Amino acid sequence: MSEHFCPVYPKPRSRRKSVWSMFFSARHSWMDSLYERSYRMQMGEVHLPGVDLYMVNDPVIVHQVMVSEAEQFPKSALLGEALEPLLGESIFTTNGALWQRQRQMMNPAFSQARVNVAFPVMRAAVADMLKRLSALSQGAEYDLEVEMTHVTADIIFRTIFSVPMEGRDAHRVFEAFARYQALAPRLMLPAMYRMRWLVWPWDRWRSRRAAKEIRGLLEALVRPRYEAYQRGDPDQPTDILAAFLAARDEHTGQPFDFDELVNQVAMLFLAGHETSASALTWACHLLANAPQIQERAHDEVVLHLGEREPQPSDMKQLTLTWNIFRETLRLFPPVGFFARESSRPCPMRDKQVKPGASIIISPWLIQRHREWWVMPDAFDPDRYTRDEALSKDSLKRAYLPFGMGPRVCLGAAFAQQEAVLILSSLLRQFRLEPVQGHVPMAVGRLTVRSENGVRLRLFQRDSAVCREGL
Ligand code: HEM
Repeated sequence: MSEHFCPVYPKPRSRRKSVWSMFFSARHSWMDSLYERSYRMQMGEVHLPGVDLYMVNDPVIVHQVMVSEAEQFPKSALLGEALEPLLGESIFTTNGALWQRQRQMMNPAFSQARVNVAFPVMRAAVADMLKRLSALSQGAEYDLEVEMTHVTADIIFRTIFSVPMEGRDAHRVFEAFARYQALAPRLMLPAMYRMRWLVWPWDRWRSRRAAKEIRGLLEALVRPRYEAYQRGDPDQPTDILAAFLAARDEHTGQPFDFDELVNQVAMLFLAGHETSASALTWACHLLANAPQIQERAHDEVVLHLGEREPQPSDMKQLTLTWNIFRETLRLFPPVGFFARESSRPCPMRDKQVKPGASIIISPWLIQRHREWWVMPDAFDPDRYTRDEALSKDSLKRAYLPFGMGPRVCLGAAFAQQEAVLILSSLLRQFRLEPVQGHVPMAVGRLTVRSENGVRLRLFQRDSAVCREGL
């Protein structure tokens, strides 16, 4: 038996269900529609009237769809449709020339230099997180998902607007987002299966209302900055919004107009905190259940940082913490699947994929695939240093938590820096323990979250002094 912790996840059924019952289980969580062979197969298919859906695990075809022939497989319009009331035509859902323009204009805001500029802002938000956690009593049981969502939303708020989340408006945005996220899967799944009639009008109305509220609040934050920039006001903070205001289309020289700015800001808020919060919450769950790894990570942080303030250059030196995050993203990739659409007839393995067919690529399946990974369900951050050649190959072929190709996550460097900073700061000061009898259960919704929260016990450590013997 493996000595590694293997987190519980929804047990796949031994046999495939009927297409209709797959659809109805997926309304609760798309993971419920998986069966054992999903984790072993190279490619599967589902057909409904007007819907051809292919699930691809074969790394060669994944590369074809996402990298070498990415233009032939644009992002599925169906997902965009569900997110449109909130995100408008934002970079996450657009395709073709419009997407290219947005990506070119947004790239500079996410260069390594910019990410380093954001570091003190991240550090300030993390310091506030530590204060909140320090106020809990020793050994208190606490749902870490709440804190991880708070700190990542705070970081994205401060880095976009230079405003902390504690502000009243920021907090209202946060609350309305939570309502919107809870409703999103109920709209997305029927759109994917082209069964829009299955969306309850009440859900659609509530979702549109939350989207309108969020956009109204974001507009109120963007407006004064937009107008100050137009007036040539020199006192502009150096945040992401400032980079977006200064961005110019390389062909026309035009900036983003006001609506475009709000679209991109709304998208960044969603993409930038929901994903990171999901991954960090799972990281805490894994660490609490792997006490030896947790102690080694604590030692690594103390040995490297002592009690001083972390700097951007420290992050890559915290190799174990880095690998813990990497391994968390393998086991619990926040974005569980990507949806693409075939724009032409295309042979794939033994199948003839027609134009308009949906191609689903799931990091959740690929990163737990029985053929691509040794001990696929085990939490083993050392795999990346121990079996270097083996894991390099798996990393290259079968690891894609940030996507790949031209649509790869724009905020990957930002997310990695933020995650290592949060985890190292948390582990330096606290010890995490599981709560007896509480088993977090993964559900696949907008991101991969726990259905019943991630409750852990937090113990403040005496001091940041290294354990004896190191
Ligand atoms: C652990 C954290 C994160 C994960 C796992 C993640 C994952 C992803 C994935 C998988 C995609 C591509 C989806 C697809 O191809 O269909 C994506 C796109 C994107 N992400 Fe992230 N993300 C994370 C954090 C962030 C952060 C912090 C930001 C911004 C601050 C961000 C901004 C974006 C943007 C702008 C795109 C769209 C890129 C494009 O289509 O050109 N992400 N992300």
